[in-house]
Amino acid sequence: MPHSVRAVVARAKGEPVTVETIVVPDPGPDEVLVAVQACGVCHTDLHYREGAINDEFPFLLGHEASGIVEEVGEGVTNVAPGDFVILNWRAVCGECRACLRGRPWYCFATHNATQKMTLDGVELSPALGIGAFAEKTLVHSGQATKVDPAAPPEVAGLIGCGVMAGLGAAMNTGNVGRGDSVAVFGCGGVGDAAIAGSLLAGAHTIIAVDLDDRKLAIAREFGATHTINSSAEDPVEAVRALTGGNGVDVAIEAIGLPVTYEQAFYSRDLAGTVVLVGVPNPEMRIELPLIDVFGRGGTLKSSWYGDCLPSRDFPMLIDLYLQGRLDLDRFVSETISIDDVEEAFHAMERGEVLRSVVVL
Ligand SMILES: NC(=O)c1ccc[n+]([C@@H]2O[C@H](COP(=O)([O-])OP(=O)(O)OC[C@H]3O[C@@H](n4cnc5c(N)ncnc54)[C@H](O)[C@@H]3O)[C@@H](O)[C@H]2O)c1
Ligand SMILES: [Zn+2]
Ligand SMILES: [Zn+2]
Repeated sequence: MPHSVRAVVARAKGEPVTVETIVVPDPGPDEVLVAVQACGVCHTDLHYREGAINDEFPFLLGHEASGIVEEVGEGVTNVAPGDFVILNWRAVCGECRACLRGRPWYCFATHNATQKMTLDGVELSPALGIGAFAEKTLVHSGQATKVDPAAPPEVAGLIGCGVMAGLGAAMNTGNVGRGDSVAVFGCGGVGDAAIAGSLLAGAHTIIAVDLDDRKLAIAREFGATHTINSSAEDPVEAVRALTGGNGVDVAIEAIGLPVTYEQAFYSRDLAGTVVLVGVPNPEMRIELPLIDVFGRGGTLKSSWYGDCLPSRDFPMLIDLYLQGRLDLDRFVSETISIDDVEEAFHAMERGEVLRSVVVL
């Protein structure tokens, strides 16, 4: 029997989201029906509703979620009804050229549910193949990662996107190590996770850059050793001044703007690494002197989902949280109802929150 549930839908570009009753099929082969318990509001959901990702409206938003497995389809062995899971958007295929070369975190053919969820008979496009601002959602079994149920749902769900993306941008993509210096541009949920990841990885200087003093104060709580308000001073000069005139070993851009990418590019030391984890829109362009790209050496990388492997990283991060070594509670600015997602987008735009988390 298909399930009729309440869910947050973006019907058209730039229009406010609405709560609708959608239809979720029973799980088919390799699919899992999950009763969503919590789902964070990520800036990427707002990118979807603004049409900045693609035009495949209507979108079923929400992708940073945890819940309980309700039903599993034929052939599912990794989870069972009653399991507490975090949903992920990297269910690796094991067969593409990245997987076959032993680099599954780059998997080029990740799995999503085969069956579609619908609104009035129209197929919905679930954000990042998940769609979890919904009482129930249908995912591929590989998208459900079992973790210790001792972690509260609103905290665990955040590992499913922004927190993982930020932690991984530092720890996996940027390969931050003991004694490194790091600068993080943009101190939202993703940037603060990059700061927390840099601290866990042993960085000794962690510089937070943002336009908003409230965000910079929170960044310090996550481990920033220095803060720069880039509306008041030139961040490139300021980063250099804090690093003996040299720049940082790893500069992480967690906003998705050409101007801050350029700041990150010039804030890094010779032979340093730039990591772009912020998501630009398709119109954005950068122009850099090619001689600087060449002459400064080093590495320019982008980070999709923090180059994570959910089966490896999610249970480990939940364990670190339960041991008190990773403060995930601090990311939850507020818990809200499924009816409040549009307002949460505005709170995000006003810079009032790190994460609003829908609790179901
Ligand atoms: N690569 C990935 O896998 C991945 C995953 C999740 C989110 N993201 C992206 O990461 C980015 C950040 O997400 P978030 O949820 O933390 O967003 P957010 O809106 O909560 O945070 C953005 C921060 O950047 C600051 N900012 C904005 N413009 C700035 C500027 N010109 N200079 C300095 N600071 C500025 C804001 O004050 C805010 O603190 C988004 O683009 C999001 O789509 C990427
Ligand atoms: Zn693959
Ligand atoms: Zn996200």
